[in-house]
Amino acid sequence: MSKDVIIACDFSSKKEVMEFLDLFPDKKPYLKIGMELYYAEGPAIVKEIKERGHQIFLDLKLHDIPNTVKKAMRVLSHLDVDMCNLHAGGASAMMQAALEGLTREDGTRPLLIGVTQLTSTSQQAMEEELLIPKPIDQVVMHYAKNAMTSGLDGVVCSPLEAGKVKEVCGANFLTVTPGVRFADGDIGDQVRVTTPEKARELGSDYIVVGRPVTAAPDPLAAYLRCCKEFLG
Ligand code: C5P
Repeated sequence: MSKDVIIACDFSSKKEVMEFLDLFPDKKPYLKIGMELYYAEGPAIVKEIKERGHQIFLDLKLHDIPNTVKKAMRVLSHLDVDMCNLHAGGASAMMQAALEGLTREDGTRPLLIGVTQLTSTSQQAMEEELLIPKPIDQVVMHYAKNAMTSGLDGVVCSPLEAGKVKEVCGANFLTVTPGVRFADGDIGDQVRVTTPEKARELGSDYIVVGRPVTAAPDPLAAYLRCCKEFLG
């Protein structure tokens, strides 16, 4: 199973992202394109970055009725991304419809990853606003299991949950983990963080790293450090 460092390209324009990518003349890092850049620049930015030779995780977190998600996934399947995602909270009918929509005529498809509970959702918000009375880690594992039985390839979770997800869903079920910081870096607004090295020990398959690379004085050096610590 391949492991990799994914850089979160949280930029709001093509100009910014291209200036950033120009800092990597000989490297083609795996990139995450999220809502900010996608909504600003549209599908053309995905195609353009793909043509530069990068693998792409399109992080649009779909969540709607099954038919709508299926049709949206069919559109995304033509963008030739490597990984995309949805909210596992949309339940199994939505996840299965998403897989159907995402699968191209030749049977190939990007990896499909489920978001369990957002790391920004607190236990209190889950209980009082969503009326889910269980401990959040149990909810995350339950959503991961639903994602697995619906046929998804893995989940987005905290590196701290990666080992448990593997126990519950099997070693081949992918864990894509944000919340990664260097031991000597700022944690910013993330709460439960780990270093790239620790994420590797905990069983993450892909770490998603944004500001520790994008806001570093030397982004290429920060990316290479991340790869060295995570991939060994
Ligand atoms: O800058 P930073 O390393 O915190 O960026 C992490 C990236 O991962 C951001 O794009 C953020 O939206 C995303 N993410 C996250 N936590 C989740 C899901 C996605 O931090 N639970």
